[in-house]
Amino acid sequence: MSKKKIAIYPGTFDPVTNGHIDIINRSLNLFDHLIVSVALNPKKNPTFSIDQRVNFIKKGLKGLKNVEVLPFDNLLTDFAHFNDASVIIKGLRAISDFEYELQMGLMNRNLDQSIETLFMIPSLEYSFLSSSFIKEIAKHGGDIHKLVPTFVAEKLLSMNI
Ligand code: COA
Repeated sequence: MSKKKIAIYPGTFDPVTNGHIDIINRSLNLFDHLIVSVALNPKKNPTFSIDQRVNFIKKGLKGLKNVEVLPFDNLLTDFAHFNDASVIIKGLRAISDFEYELQMGLMNRNLDQSIETLFMIPSLEYSFLSSSFIKEIAKHGGDIHKLVPTFVAEKLLSMNI
């Protein structure tokens, strides 16, 4: 029997957007199992706690199969290895993402040769999205309903951030 192909999709997800969910759906067409890996990432000073970020993603996936959502706070390559994942998925929204992502991909390869990084292109409608933009728009009362799951939009618009 061939081995299950497991990929991880890491990020801060503060909060998850429709752009992230688009990448998750695309990844599920390619892999047997996907682990959405939510980094604690305290250096980014996230707006939402790790539990909130994990739960938002779980809720946004609406019981989708072959995907799980896990928090992590160690080296990404160690986390991937521990979970038998051989591929790290990153979304490339614009050329400007490329340099940083290439650097990270090369560093991850340096740390673990057995893990490949795969860059995926999001839908055009989400290629300008970022979690900070979403929070900024929400702060000023702008409409974010088409850009994030409804419950994330409601939560952000009810907060005083
Ligand atoms: N749709 C919408 N937004 C997207 C997106 C998509 N498809 N893909 C990326 N983004 C946005 C995010 O919302 C985020 O926006 P923000 O900066 O406004 O919050 C931004 O792109 C950056 O994404 P982020 O999730 O913070 O990822 P990152 O590329 O900075 O990497 C980790 C985060 C967790 C993957 C990385 O820090 C890591 O691997 N940490 C573990 C420690 C480690 O192993 N370090 C060595 C790495 S070489």
